Order: sequence, then structure tokens, then C-alpha cells
Amino acid sequence: MQHPVEIDHIRWEQRGIHALEAGRHAEAESCFAKAVIQADSALSWLGLAMSQIELKRNAAAIESLQRARQLAPQSGVIGHLLASLQGSKPERAPETFVNWLFNSRAPHFDNHLSRLAYRGPEMLRQLAVNAGWPTDAGRNIVDLGCGTGLSGVPFRPYAGKLDGVDMVPGMLQQADRRGIYDSLYQSELHAALKTFADNAYDVALAADTLIYIGKLDDLFTELGRILAPGGTFMFTTELGAPGSGYTLLPTGRYSHAEDYLLACADKRFHLADRVDGCIRVEDGRMTAGCAYRFTKS
Ligand SMILES: C[S@@+](CC[C@H](N)C(=O)[O-])C[C@H]1O[C@@H](n2cnc3c(N)ncnc32)[C@H](O)[C@@H]1O
Repeated sequence: MQHPVEIDHIRWEQRGIHALEAGRHAEAESCFAKAVIQADSALSWLGLAMSQIELKRNAAAIESLQRARQLAPQSGVIGHLLASLQGSKPERAPETFVNWLFNSRAPHFDNHLSRLAYRGPEMLRQLAVNAGWPTDAGRNIVDLGCGTGLSGVPFRPYAGKLDGVDMVPGMLQQADRRGIYDSLYQSELHAALKTFADNAYDVALAADTLIYIGKLDDLFTELGRILAPGGTFMFTTELGAPGSGYTLLPTGRYSHAEDYLLACADKRFHLADRVDGCIRVEDGRMTAGCAYRFTKS
């Protein structure tokens, strides 16, 4: 006589993760719901919460995250997602969250972003074209949150020296394979900037990086020191409503209002150019983004 095969909670978790990555959010929710019935594990509750966030069921997601936090009170990932749903405003995403998000995805990151029609590097390149930069390989450029190097590629022709900074080892491994960077630094980027000399670079890039950093005034201050006179800071943001400062969204990413960027730039930088566009397409929805070029005064 045959017995039905019992699927354990690990299998349900694996099926849930697979469905989540494939964008089948309702199926993912049902798999994780089965997993948490079989074993009260923080990972299953986290998966359940992530499916519920995707399904815009935020109240249910908060409940799932609260249970996950009881089981894993130190988790920066759970804490950051809870903060994003409960309207609090940490200054930036914790390192554990950024590592969790990117490290295991690094080998598939470029394919994933190409499926999302990601345009961050192209929007920054457009700013360089608008500014009439010759591709004379003369600039010292640092790519902040360089990831796998997608944002470095269009800037290599403009660079005498191209360096990259990122905190996630898996992403840096991919960037290194590309062979376009002179030096790569594994570091949280505020910490890395503190180690750079005054006037060390002509250009700082940050494509899709500031979405993991809310409060930007320290970053502008430090860039005011490491960029040479007349230097350029180019970056993309998700666009926030005027007067909203920075906002932590339910996605765990930040948006920034333009008046907040101008306030952070203060008298050290002035806004030279801006390109509007759709930075990526998720679940058929376009995410509006902006690329900015600020010049050091
Ligand atoms: C969405 S990816 C963008 C990567 C690349 N710039 C591109 O355009 O493809 C964001 C990158 O920023 C890095 N990152 C986010 N916050 C960071 C921080 N505070 N310090 C260093 N790296 C950070 C992440 O590890 C990730 O590689």
C-alpha cells in the first residue's frame, strides 16, 4: 500500500523561494503558509512576509514579520522590513539587509536586472553625454555601490582610473571578473569614503545605490572633501514627493525628494542636470527614477 509523501517544511520553504523568485507570489505565500504550520521557523515567516509584501497585504506581512522577529530578534533583515512597513525611518539599510539581498543573487544579478529593463547606468551615461564629456580617459572615477560593475561599463571610456566600492563580496567578485576596475574596495561606502584623500576623484557615481541609503547629508559632506574642485557627483534615485525628505518604502528601498537632495548639497554642490526616466519595471509596473548630476561649487 502506498503512503502519500509528506513534504517537510524545508521543501515548502524551497518551493516558496523558487515561486517568489519567479514572481508567482500567491503560490509562494501558500508554500510558506504550509511551511510555518509544519515548523515555526523565522525563515519561513520571513518568506511568508515577503510574499505578502509583494501581494500588497501589508497588515498580514507585519504580523508575519513580528512572529519572525520573536524567533530571530537580532535579524537586521526582519528589522528593516518591519521598519519599512511601519513607517519608521532608519538612516540607511543595515549591512545585514544589503548582504542578504545581494550576496546570493550576485551570480544572476545581471540577468535579473536585464529582465527588469534596468536603466540606471544608461541614465547616468546620458548625463555625461549631455555635459559633452569627451571620452578622453582622463578622469579619476569612483563607482559607489558598484555591484557587479554594470554601472562601471559605460564610464570606463571616460576614466583614467576607475575604482569601485561595495560592501557585498559576491557582487565584487562579479565586478572583478569584468576586468574594468583598477581597484575594488569591499566596504560600507561611508566608511570607504573616510579613507580616501582630499580631492582624490573627479567623479563619483552611484547608480541605484542611494535607494539603500536614506539620510544623505553625510555622504554629500564627505564627497565635498574627496572630489576635486569642479568635480561631479552623478546618481540615480527613486523619486519622492516634494517635502517628504527621504522615505523608506514597503520594498525596503528609499525614495528621495528633490528639495531634500538640494538641501543636502547645500553650498558645496549645485544641480547641473537631471534626466527623468523609468529606472526598472517590476511586475509590469514602471518605477519612476531620476538621474542627477551635481557639480562641486
Ligand atoms: C541595486 S545594486 C546597483 C549596482 C550597480 N551600481 C548597478 O548599477 O548595477 C546596489 C548596490 O549597492 C550596494 N550597496 C548598498 N548600500 C551600500 C552601502 N551602504 N555601502 C556599500 N555598498 C552598498 C549593494 O551591495 C549593491 O551592490
